[in-house]
Amino acid sequence: MKMNFFSAFFFLLVSLYPLPQILAKESNGHISVVILGATGDLARKYLWQGFFHHYMEQVTNGYSFSFYGGALAEADQGNPALFEILKGLRCPSEVDQQKCALLKEQFLKLSQYRQLRTAEQYSALHEEINTQLKQEELVEAGRLFYLSVPAFAYVEIAERINSSCRPTTGGWLRVVLEKPFGHDYDSAQSLAVDLEKYLRQDEMYRIDHYLGKQAVAQILPFRHDNAKLLYPLWNRHHVEKVEIILKETLDVKGRTQFYNQYGVIRDVIQNHLTEILMLIAMEIPYNVNDPQEVLGKKLKLYTNLQDLSRRSAVVGQYQNFNFEVKEELNKTVDYVSNTATFAGVAVYIENVQWDGVPFILTSGKALDERVGYARIVFRNPTFCVQNEEAMHCKLRQVIFYFGHGSLQHPAILVSKSLFKPILPSGWKEVTEYPELTLLGQPLSEYYIYTPVTQSEPYTILISLIFQGKHDSFVSTENLLASWKFWSPLLHSLSLHMPRLYPGGNDNNNFLDFELKGHELSFIQEPVVISSNIQDEISVDSFQITQGKYRQNEMVSAWAEELISRLSADLQKIAEESVKNSGQFHMALSGGSTPIALFQRLALHHYTFPWKKTHFWMVDERCVPLDDSGSNFKTLHDYLLQYIKVPYYNIHPMPVYLNQRLCVEEDSGAEAYEKEILKLVNDTSFDFILLGVGDDGHTASLFKNSKFEMHKDKLVALTESPSKPHQRMSLTFSAINKAKNITVLITGKAKHEMITQLSRVKDDAKKWPITAVKPTSGKLIWYIDYDALLG
Ligand SMILES: *[C@@H]1O[C@H](CO)[C@@H](O)[C@H](O)[C@H]1NC(C)=O
Ligand SMILES: *[C@@H]1O[C@H](CO)[C@@H](O)[C@H](O)[C@H]1NC(C)=O
Ligand SMILES: *[C@@H]1O[C@H](CO)[C@@H](O)[C@H](O)[C@H]1NC(C)=O
Ligand SMILES: *[C@@H]1O[C@H](CO)[C@@H](O)[C@H](O)[C@H]1NC(C)=O
Repeated sequence: MKMNFFSAFFFLLVSLYPLPQILAKESNGHISVVILGATGDLARKYLWQGFFHHYMEQVTNGYSFSFYGGALAEADQGNPALFEILKGLRCPSEVDQQKCALLKEQFLKLSQYRQLRTAEQYSALHEEINTQLKQEELVEAGRLFYLSVPAFAYVEIAERINSSCRPTTGGWLRVVLEKPFGHDYDSAQSLAVDLEKYLRQDEMYRIDHYLGKQAVAQILPFRHDNAKLLYPLWNRHHVEKVEIILKETLDVKGRTQFYNQYGVIRDVIQNHLTEILMLIAMEIPYNVNDPQEVLGKKLKLYTNLQDLSRRSAVVGQYQNFNFEVKEELNKTVDYVSNTATFAGVAVYIENVQWDGVPFILTSGKALDERVGYARIVFRNPTFCVQNEEAMHCKLRQVIFYFGHGSLQHPAILVSKSLFKPILPSGWKEVTEYPELTLLGQPLSEYYIYTPVTQSEPYTILISLIFQGKHDSFVSTENLLASWKFWSPLLHSLSLHMPRLYPGGNDNNNFLDFELKGHELSFIQEPVVISSNIQDEISVDSFQITQGKYRQNEMVSAWAEELISRLSADLQKIAEESVKNSGQFHMALSGGSTPIALFQRLALHHYTFPWKKTHFWMVDERCVPLDDSGSNFKTLHDYLLQYIKVPYYNIHPMPVYLNQRLCVEEDSGAEAYEKEILKLVNDTSFDFILLGVGDDGHTASLFKNSKFEMHKDKLVALTESPSKPHQRMSLTFSAINKAKNITVLITGKAKHEMITQLSRVKDDAKKWPITAVKPTSGKLIWYIDYDALLG
């Protein structure tokens, strides 16, 4: 037997105390554990302690073990470093201290340091394991490799494990990986593909240590055990909002190299908080311990998540961050990092259960307190006429409290106004508590359960790895689904500077944000740093000006002002029409210009007569309605989905008929014309919104078209010159009969066109927009200052 530092230490001890026979005689097999990155931070803080804990439990079950601490350093450095860590292992308070002390000595004896740098060193390790098995006549149960190393090293290590360290005698191989697993969808996918060359799916255990937190691991069982009471409540009719919060007081000093590349969303929201969202919102599996079923339900929920837009999130960066990055990464003075250290994100789920319920995911560094929880807030349908202090009048919530914060331990809290939940096994009810208010309620108003013994997540997860249970680990499909969801937001945020915040208690309510529609914004204006630009713009230039453009009325202002004026005018026209005829028929254009108008209408016009409003399309691309190029989809995504309109008032163009797009024989244009004739009095729309393309086209009426061919039609198939796509469009005959026509033009890019257009004579062939001439209605140009002044 090789004499190393530990065995020397051990022999010293056994010579003082005779070793009792704790080892079981019958062997269930031998397990070799290899921790790579054995002297790193994570291993020091959690992994060795977790393995020691597991060793204490399993050694009595007849398993034997050897532990290898692997790292890059040579043995004469690695050995003492590892010994320092092992010496510090703690005996949990609930176990027999004397027995534990002896087991610790055994554990030290079974552990040794290995330099694992080269392929030869991996092969040598393999040989040594095999020799030991042979000499001691042990049956190999399996080998566990724990990769606590930077992600760039994963593939090389996996390759070495596959080529030289696989058990040769039928034992299992399990390889544990720590995040990050990529930094977006593409990188995660390529890492997954590379790893699959060397490891089978069932051999990989991707750790998300949040899944080992006791209150997190209890979410599904809690939902399952209380299904009878929860089932009627766990949905959009009863849940007002769900908050999933992870706040930290620490900054990232010392880890800016990693953090500056990743930021808060990749670091904790894409993984921990998203996993928790899954556990709360997924369909409850029939068997909560069946990893395949759990995964299936999760993946299904991923497909129901509504895409995030830039405005689904608010992001911040603590003030010192940039300074720390510059210092640690030797950046130049003018370096500016736009990595977010704080984020709040509103996630929506498009299914019958959760439609419209905001799931707010929030995390940040340098905040006022360290705490993590998920909170499901229910609506209270009770109206309390008297005695508002009665329990049934109070706040109703379920809280999964992960730890820290004012409670200091994991817990499940359920408002007494809701119901008394079933006590999970291994948990106890807390009946004596400090006088403390937690999330709006005194502790006395909750049923509170807490684990009988608190365990470290790593200890729990390591035990699950030994049991070969995959359900608390992140599968490849799960991982990729999450990255697919988060990557577009991450990409759009990369072009955006986060709001700076002072950090700690100084943040006050500076990071508070609010939800409007499905969008988030900070409630406070950022502190504006004075700049010359601010001084140069005079107050006057914010005013709306009126004038003439091409002999018609023109309204002009900065874009935001212009849009609010237009939406107000539109509401006036709508109310007028409803008063006169009981209905309001408007036809809208697509493209990006009207999006701001749609948003404004969705968020600020609660009294708009939507129920009497009919939505028609000015034109449409020949693509399916759910294609991102569809004008109807833009209208739907930015306006229709937020307002209440009767379905039969919505009239998308029938571009898709008989399973094909815009084919003449299918008579889509004729069908739309018939519908207009049926519903629009005198085929005269009350309002038409038009835009103008850079080439002067409007609706889908392009240059050099034979407009005279559809003189007698209201709707026609047309051809765009730049793209082969066909279009469907209202004709000039239909447009010019309208009562109010608005042409909306915004943005600097349109300046040149605006200038030219102001000079040209009417000429439909060259400038189709000049053929817009209402027969008896009114045409108004709405042009913003950017387009008008350049
Ligand atoms: C591991 O290596 C062997 C060759 O040594 C190869 O055939 C196999 O495909 C590799 N990957 C897995 C997952 O076994
Ligand atoms: C920054 O510079 C210092 C001193 O020159 C050096 O020790 C350190 O390794 C550098 N750090 C990085 C990330 O380049
Ligand atoms: C329909 O249009 C005609 C002609 O423009 C008009 O006289 C009539 O009042 C309109 N009817 C309604 C119900 O608006
Ligand atoms: C809308 O059209 C009607 C009829 O042409 C006209 O009287 C009215 O002034 C227009 N409304 C606006 C706001 O321009």
